[in-house]
Amino acid sequence: MLETSICNIELRNPTILAAGVMGSMASSLNRIYRGGAGAVVTKSFSLRPNPGYRNPTTVEVTGGVINAIGLSNPGVEAFREELKLVDEEVPLIASVYGASPEEFASAAASVEEYADMIELNVSCPHAMAGCGASIGQDPELTFRVVSAVKDAVDVPVSTKLTPNVTDIVEIAGSAEEAGSDALTLINSLGPGMKIDIKTARPILSNAFGGMSGPAIKPVAVRCVYDVYRSVDIPIMGVGGVRDFQDAVEFLFAGARAVQVGTAIMYDGPEVFMKICRGLEAFMMAEGFSSVDEMVGLAHD
Ligand SMILES: Cc1cc2nc3c(=O)[nH]c(=O)nc-3n(C[C@H](O)[C@H](O)[C@H](O)COP(=O)(O)O)c2cc1C
Repeated sequence: MLETSICNIELRNPTILAAGVMGSMASSLNRIYRGGAGAVVTKSFSLRPNPGYRNPTTVEVTGGVINAIGLSNPGVEAFREELKLVDEEVPLIASVYGASPEEFASAAASVEEYADMIELNVSCPHAMAGCGASIGQDPELTFRVVSAVKDAVDVPVSTKLTPNVTDIVEIAGSAEEAGSDALTLINSLGPGMKIDIKTARPILSNAFGGMSGPAIKPVAVRCVYDVYRSVDIPIMGVGGVRDFQDAVEFLFAGARAVQVGTAIMYDGPEVFMKICRGLEAFMMAEGFSSVDEMVGLAHD
């Protein structure tokens, strides 16, 4: 009943681990899948190792978390070693980023053999210069990155967009036109910040970071709703999903699956099982027999 598919990748249910939370190690990716997720996305990685920002990199705020990790990762060579250890049965989405279309394409090509899909992180709101939202805020740059990756890999590609733009529909259109097979909406919102009132200093070492968690869900649902009307490619919804009601909202807005990140910090990896049980009960009570039937129902 919960099965869905995205770009012909069969998922046993529509819940997916979002990039960046428990996605650096094969052991945690396997654990999240065994715990009930339908698929997993890795932490974003780049061609070369990136130490990221100093601690503190995350801070809790009302309704969520602000993070400025700075896309720290050990680089694609080290990441390949981890990806080899992910169980064969796990639908794996590898998240990559870079400072140029060529870097995105090389990173994607290096891990293609282990991934069912590549997700392009063109949207981190606190990344170091040239690697983040600056790409996903520019339709032309987005087009170039997606085109380069599409030329370099055969697996499907999803482009993950930032909500921190005037018109997300325009950027989504560029990604689709460049050949993106799917979209992931949205990366964290902001940047935002929190100030320590005892020291009168910003708490995060980078001062600013991306906001995630329940507080950003209405923005994410609106982005999915808006983009669904203008593209023909499938959408993965992400932002503030914590329970089955959240998942249903995203499906009705037009997502075919939902990704879950911050909720794991609140509820642990069991959150996937909890969402799936609730979703199944909701579908039975409301007379839905498949996830497909629910996608986009909020549109007339
Ligand atoms: C600690 C942390 C690290 C993240 N790292 C990444 C990342 O490496 N790549 C990426 O595309 N998104 C990253 N994100 C964004 C999430 O994948 C997701 O888009 C965002 O947090 C909204 O979903 P949520 O409210 O379920 O967390 C990160 C989020 C958090 C909280």
